[in-house]
Amino acid sequence: MADDQPQLNDLFDRRLEFPDMDAARRLNRLVGVDDAKSRLTKLLAILVNPEGPRAWASRHHPQAATLLDYVERRPPLVILAGDVGTGKTELSETIGDAVARQEKIGVTLYPLSLSTRGSGKVGEMTKLVSAAFDATLDAAQKLRRTAGARAGGGVILLVDEADALTQSREDGQMHHEDRAGVNAFIRGVDRLAEKRLPAAVILCTNRLSAIDPAVQRRAADIFEFHRPNDVQRRAVLDGPLAEAGFSRADIDRVVQMTGAARDRAYGFTFSDLTQRLLPTLVLDAYPDRPVTFARAQQLLETMTPTPPFQDRRRG
Ligand SMILES: Nc1ncnc2c1ncn2[C@@H]1O[C@H](COP(=O)(O)OP(=O)(O)O)[C@@H](O)[C@H]1O
Ligand SMILES: [Mg+2]
Repeated sequence: MADDQPQLNDLFDRRLEFPDMDAARRLNRLVGVDDAKSRLTKLLAILVNPEGPRAWASRHHPQAATLLDYVERRPPLVILAGDVGTGKTELSETIGDAVARQEKIGVTLYPLSLSTRGSGKVGEMTKLVSAAFDATLDAAQKLRRTAGARAGGGVILLVDEADALTQSREDGQMHHEDRAGVNAFIRGVDRLAEKRLPAAVILCTNRLSAIDPAVQRRAADIFEFHRPNDVQRRAVLDGPLAEAGFSRADIDRVVQMTGAARDRAYGFTFSDLTQRLLPTLVLDAYPDRPVTFARAQQLLETMTPTPPFQDRRRG
């Protein structure tokens, strides 16, 4: 299916198909996002598989046509917003697995990150966004056509690092090009909605305030992500550190050291733990020594958590 559409492969870094075992594992490993996970799964499920709610209604509420209509008219957009390294991308890239399993359909994700795209040339962001929606529409239309009345599958478009879409509003003025990118995005969402295709859009941003109000208004739901609290840091660290031979008390201490401290109001992000701390412990010990708590303590003294996105921007 991918081979006859080279432009599709240029546009998206890769394409992910669900159900997928690896995605299931990654999704399962996310801590503290259970509520977002279940709400997001349902929301995406009814968008990528409109047949689902209809079957549900015919079972439980055969008379409820108006009620169902409100559900079907939900905008095909959800926003994930919050601090860096809190699982927005990870959840977006794997939630399709939960949707696919729940609805028993195939789900395809098209991931597009705006941070690495668009050199800032006039019109580039707009073209990129329009092309992404074209590809999504096209894929969703094909699915509907081949499957007849029953959706044979659904499509999720992920627009990641979307602050780039409207960035320079910060400076008090929005460049013409930025406005055009936002407009292309809005047009895309509206087109998907009008045609009632088995498709949904996930937009991720580090700063909700960077997202145009007109885009926010179109979101069926906005999910907020936060840095891990003590319990959540423990949930991440417990398994791997216990494997490394750390005692309960050792792990307690690491949980504490990765939290807020006297000289800083914030603790480690999830990704600080999984992508910096844990690998650092291993690489420090490898290849000659084992990982030890004493060494972990020393290393932690020298490590600082990623500053919150907002503070960094305000300078
Ligand atoms: N809620 C979480 N639970 C466990 N690990 C997480 C969580 N959020 C992020 N991580 C870890 O941090 C990495 C980066 O997270 P990511 O989703 O890219 O963050 P962002 O919110 O900036 O998009 C993930 O691959 C995962 O290892
Ligand atoms: Mg991200």
